[in-house]
Amino acid sequence: MVDWVRLELDVAGFDDAAFEPYLGRARASGVEFSTLAELGDTPEHRRALYDLNRTCSADIPERGEFYTYEAYVAQRIEVPSFDPAGVILATREGEWIGMSSTSLQPAKGLAFSEMTGVLAPYRGRGLSLALKLLAIRFVRAAGYGRLATFHHPRNASAIAMNRRLGFADQAG
Ligand SMILES: CC(C)(COP(=O)(O)OP(=O)(O)OC[C@H]1O[C@@H](n2cnc3c(N)ncnc32)[C@H](O)[C@@H]1OP(=O)(O)O)[C@@H](O)C(=O)NCCC(=O)NCCS
Repeated sequence: MVDWVRLELDVAGFDDAAFEPYLGRARASGVEFSTLAELGDTPEHRRALYDLNRTCSADIPERGEFYTYEAYVAQRIEVPSFDPAGVILATREGEWIGMSSTSLQPAKGLAFSEMTGVLAPYRGRGLSLALKLLAIRFVRAAGYGRLATFHHPRNASAIAMNRRLGFADQAG
């Protein structure tokens, strides 16, 4: 059985200023940030989101087979917790190169970081930190104080990324 690493961020305690330089550097290098709501939740953009998510998910340890497009739409998009404003996108010269998707879970009283991914050629430049800064702002603006996530214990880069942002082990 997998012993998942369950992490949570106290949004009120998050220090935006410490991560703003990552956003600035990415923008200076030609990366643009937007949301699926801003770009339009269209069939074409849903397909682009699926392709990006599938490519990045191939690097998650023991992820297994990814959804078909139809299953992805049914199980990840056309669900009440999906909000296109919570899908932060990084693009460069029109190419979708990074994403961070967050759902709001009113019954649990928290937001959940569903998937953060950056295409391999763009990794190691702080792009995930810029994406998550914007995701955390989405969570704060929606009035939520807790952002949770969980990772496979061998997903060292994702666990390190979140700890770098201040995520701590979930209580209990
Ligand atoms: C996890 C992922 C999103 C990180 O994206 P990235 O843009 O390369 O990460 P960044 O350059 O912003 O690095 C952020 C921090 O994460 C940590 N980190 C990133 N890659 C790491 C690696 N390979 N090993 C150890 N730590 C790493 C570091 O702490 C880094 O901060 P620092 O450079 O200031 O020390 C990317 O590796 C990815 O897409 N992986 C596949 C998909 C996935 O596993 N997603 C998470 C599941 S939802």
